Amino acid sequence: MSRDFGFPAGEAVLITGAGSGIGRATALRAAELGLSLSLWDLDPTGLETTAELVGSHAPRVHTWVADVSDDDAVQTGMADAVAALGSIRYLHNNAGPASASAIPFDRAVEISVGSVRRVTDAWAAAGPGEGAAMVATTSIAGNLLGTDNAWYSASKAAVMGYVRHLASYRAGEFRSNGVAPGMTDTPRLAGFAASETGQRVLQRIPLKRMATPDDIAWATLFLLSPLACYINGVYLPVDGGWTVTQ
Ligand SMILES: NC(=O)c1ccc[n+]([C@@H]2O[C@H](COP(=O)([O-])OP(=O)(O)OC[C@H]3O[C@@H](n4cnc5c(N)ncnc54)[C@H](O)[C@@H]3O)[C@@H](O)[C@H]2O)c1
Repeated sequence: MSRDFGFPAGEAVLITGAGSGIGRATALRAAELGLSLSLWDLDPTGLETTAELVGSHAPRVHTWVADVSDDDAVQTGMADAVAALGSIRYLHNNAGPASASAIPFDRAVEISVGSVRRVTDAWAAAGPGEGAAMVATTSIAGNLLGTDNAWYSASKAAVMGYVRHLASYRAGEFRSNGVAPGMTDTPRLAGFAASETGQRVLQRIPLKRMATPDDIAWATLFLLSPLACYINGVYLPVDGGWTVTQ
């Protein structure tokens, strides 16, 4: 099937957390749409696998092993990415710790929303140019549902608050939107669908399945694309209708 989201030839997208799950899917689907890629992850093995899977499908591929909560790594990485690909028009702020991680509340919020701010500022300072857009992977957690994990709900709501700030005050530079996955079939949710809680949740999802990483990737790429040129500041749940049943 041929798809065309209207991305002009020669443009590039930077994806954080590209070594697995949603970030990897966004990389693969972006390559199909003709975008060059700057792929970032703290896991070198996952990153290498994504780059191998992309292969020659993307015009150009740059990889950067970095923890996005590390300011020096982000600054150096952005310079490296721009040197490799030129101006980077689109940004997918996707990396974030798994909700099951035992990270102290303050540090977790700092990592989650702080990294989105850090990468966005570095990208914006590098001059993404006309038609630039940013999408953050937020969540239905914290925005539509309260979860048992305090830092995860708090930081995903904070990411969306930051997106609304950007959409209001930085629209002269770039559009900003949030994609909110529901229960998505990535390694961090391995086994969840088969668990008792997972089965209960699945029953409440009108589409009766988890999201695939591609479901989230396509929503992200649509919001980044010129087709969405008048969409700024939206919170887009991609959850099979789960939250309208709550
Ligand atoms: N899977 C779900 O059900 C779900 C639901 C809602 C939101 N999300 C969000 O989607 C995003 C991607 O999650 P996923 O399910 O694809 O997970 P995943 O574990 O499959 O992939 C996440 C990737 O991000 C990388 N990463 C994590 N912290 C990083 C850091 N500080 N710096 C650089 N890279 C880092 C990991 O190494 C990993 O490769 C996350 O922000 C997550 O909170 C996921």
